[in-house]
Amino acid sequence: MAELIWRHARPCDLETIASWVDSARALERWAGPGLTWPIKASALFEQLGGNELPSFCLTQDDLAVAFGQLFVKGDKRQHLARIIVSPAHRGIGLGRQLCHRLLEEARSRHATHITLNVFADNQAALALYRRLGFVPAGKPDARGVLPMRLPAFAGTADNTDNGPTDNG
Ligand SMILES: CC(C)(COP(=O)(O)OP(=O)(O)OC[C@H]1O[C@@H](n2cnc3c(N)ncnc32)[C@H](O)[C@@H]1OP(=O)(O)O)[C@@H](O)C(=O)NCCC(=O)NCCS
Repeated sequence: MAELIWRHARPCDLETIASWVDSARALERWAGPGLTWPIKASALFEQLGGNELPSFCLTQDDLAVAFGQLFVKGDKRQHLARIIVSPAHRGIGLGRQLCHRLLEEARSRHATHITLNVFADNQAALALYRRLGFVPAGKPDARGVLPMRLPAFAGTADNTDNGPTDNG
């Protein structure tokens, strides 16, 4: 496998990533509500707030193979969002690498509390997040979205101020 490079995402990466999402349902599961189907690939970077939110890619030969963002939820809490791995590269540990890198980015931004949201029937994502140590932070909402948190991040024994209401 070619070397993996971690870098900030660019608009052209989102055009690649748009081709990984094959339905309105898949789009909602990845990016939450608020995006319209079909995806307008050239507008996706802007629609995802790529200029405002910390947005990162793992790349091979400068092509995106995985993408994720951080939502800043206050002084100390950051929220992992829009996590996705290229369909051709799933099941080989890139999702785990992507999340570890995002957690390092959150740590470097002084986060002590980490959260995320996931559809409770998204088995692949749930397996990934559980493996990383995330635990449920409540019950699934009416749409089936489960809030999760990462205990013991950045030296904290627990984090209980959950309550994310968005997706991703
Ligand atoms: C969820 C996703 C990012 C996982 O990426 P990935 O690169 O395939 O995951 P990894 O290979 O790093 O696997 C991490 C763990 O999850 C498990 N896992 C991955 N895919 C799985 C699947 N389809 N079913 C069950 N477990 C799975 C792996 O077995 C691994 O656990 P292990 O270390 O105990 O073996 C990927 O499936 C994806 O991009 N899905 C579409 C977008 C999406 O749903 N994003 C989540 C938004 S909340």
